[in-house]
Amino acid sequence: MSKFLITGGAGFIGGNFCHYMVSKYPQDEFVCLDALTYAGNLETLEPIMNAGNFRFVHENICHREGIFKLFAEEHFDYVINFAAESHVDRSIENPEIFLKTNILGPQVLMDACLKYPVKRFHQVSTDEVYGDLPLDRPDLLFTEQTPLHTSSPYSASKAAADLLVMAYHRTFGLPCTISRCSNNYGPYQFPEKLIPMIIKKALADEPLPIYGKGINVRDWLHVYDHCTAIDLIVRQGADGEIYNIGGHNEKTNLEVVQTILNYLSKPQSLITFVKDRAGHDLRYAMDPSKLEKELGWRPKYTFETGIGRTIDWNLNHRDWLEHVASGEYLRFMKEYYSSK
Ligand SMILES: NC(=O)c1ccc[n+]([C@@H]2O[C@H](COP(=O)([O-])OP(=O)(O)OC[C@H]3O[C@@H](n4cnc5c(N)ncnc54)[C@H](O)[C@@H]3O)[C@@H](O)[C@H]2O)c1
Repeated sequence: MSKFLITGGAGFIGGNFCHYMVSKYPQDEFVCLDALTYAGNLETLEPIMNAGNFRFVHENICHREGIFKLFAEEHFDYVINFAAESHVDRSIENPEIFLKTNILGPQVLMDACLKYPVKRFHQVSTDEVYGDLPLDRPDLLFTEQTPLHTSSPYSASKAAADLLVMAYHRTFGLPCTISRCSNNYGPYQFPEKLIPMIIKKALADEPLPIYGKGINVRDWLHVYDHCTAIDLIVRQGADGEIYNIGGHNEKTNLEVVQTILNYLSKPQSLITFVKDRAGHDLRYAMDPSKLEKELGWRPKYTFETGIGRTIDWNLNHRDWLEHVASGEYLRFMKEYYSSK
């Protein structure tokens, strides 16, 4: 029996990870910790809330006293940190909370891991730490050796955390791994992110705001495949190593939006080009061959198979979408995007 702490588990990827792990490993115990910011939603955890091997703790990863108390009580084997401020546009509006949550939060967790030793601390990072690639060089991919070269306060805060994790490994001997994943999509994604936002607006026949000319390229991975990769890295990855995760599914933003409109039989005329995001990265593309060769990971979904399922999920979970898309979501969407 192993005991896991999963932070940020009421969010999109952490929530999917909790669902995956709780049902796959009934003999293990899972504590999910989340501060329940605007992006955290307990409804996401409803399907597993009463599972015998799962419990939820309302706490902030920056709250040293509360985190240390929890570690003293639970003595975790594995700590997996998904908790973060995750939306690039919000980091442009207000960087400060990004630095606190995304850098100081992991520091508190790692200090607790040193005081109450764990088998592994895993930091969930992002391909955005590598900056971007040119649009006219499809041969170039990010590898784990690509230098960090960030563009937004969000990606800078994630890169800082990665460096801190490696420093804790070298200086204090913290057993750790880092994963850097490409753009995710799938169930329970907060509708400020591109794919659920487009689905939501298209269903309401609202204009679909697309940055610039829609030519920016992202490498899309279904969240299920991100979860299987993290599970593998945490259990079998080598200590102190970084692993890229990606699905070889490069699409322009315009292609993604057109695919969704076609699936929903909605007109392309809903597409509205808006002023480009400041510092907007051109292209992300991951080389996940280390993870594939060393740990045998393979994604289950192509973009074509995953996107249909995701649209259907959104159609079948209108209540979840309506509940999360209130209050803070509406304020941000109105203030940030109406000025474009
Ligand atoms: N979404 C993507 O495409 C993507 C891709 C690669 C990596 N990532 C990384 O994966 C992780 C999860 O991303 P996501 O898309 O699920 O984000 P999300 O915004 O949906 O969820 C983040 C969760 O963290 C919680 N949280 C925020 N601040 C906290 C704090 N101080 N203490 C405790 N909990 C806090 C929120 O309440 C929320 O539940 C992040 O670290 C992100 O950088 C995301």
